[in-house]
Amino acid sequence: MRRARFITFEGIDGSGKSTQARLLAAFLKAQGESVLLTREPGGSPGAEEIRRLLVEGPPERWSPETEILLFTAARRDHLEKTIEPALAQGTTVISDRFADSTRVYQGAARGELRHIVDTLHDAVIGREPDLTFVIDMDPGEALRRGLARKSGEDRFEDMGESFQHRLRDGFTALVRDNPERCHLIDGTRDPDKIAEDVAKIALETA
Ligand code: ADP
Ligand code: TYD
Repeated sequence: MRRARFITFEGIDGSGKSTQARLLAAFLKAQGESVLLTREPGGSPGAEEIRRLLVEGPPERWSPETEILLFTAARRDHLEKTIEPALAQGTTVISDRFADSTRVYQGAARGELRHIVDTLHDAVIGREPDLTFVIDMDPGEALRRGLARKSGEDRFEDMGESFQHRLRDGFTALVRDNPERCHLIDGTRDPDKIAEDVAKIALETA
């Protein structure tokens, strides 16, 4: 039996994270592994309530400081109620976004606030994934894909394309600084081709 792992997908909006998280969950389940697919912000009833506060409404609804507190509050609930219990039972957890999103998004919006992100993470989260896939692609194309969904959850997409470029740079730097757990994946190809690469890496690090 493979050990239960904590796997995350990261990347800019519309890059294909949810699609790839779903495909990896299906692949591992087909191999007989117990898998829980979850997401942030959200992933527990309380965190899903906080999610609505974060993803709906105009971009200026929250200051960056308030946003960091809300994302971290949602993450703490998700960790306590969903992620840790599943891992303790031997279930692999695949999360569509986790702490790297706060580092990159809130860091990209206001770089000087990164110390607040890191301090809060150390104080109340304190957990890193075993494996992180960063789906990389051109922000213009990803934005078109994302907005085409018309989900009504476009508060961050509405911050515009230059913000998405800063995010892409932030995710690239994240992979460079954390090579032991982060893998940069070319997200411009066919979903099934991307999923093959992801599955291969997931098996290698099992
Ligand atoms: P994210 O979770 O990163 O926002 P999604 O997985 O929801 O991205 O994908 C955004 C949109 O792009 C969806 O409509 C999805 O069907 C489509 N999509 C996902 N992956 C690909 C791909 N490799 N090529 C083309 N379209 C894709
Ligand atoms: P998500 O539903 O994953 O959006 P998408 O499917 O468009 O990628 O996440 C909602 C938004 O919240 C997304 O724009 C990224 C943002 N976000 C942060 O800014 N910080 C965070 O810590 C997280 C988890 C998400």
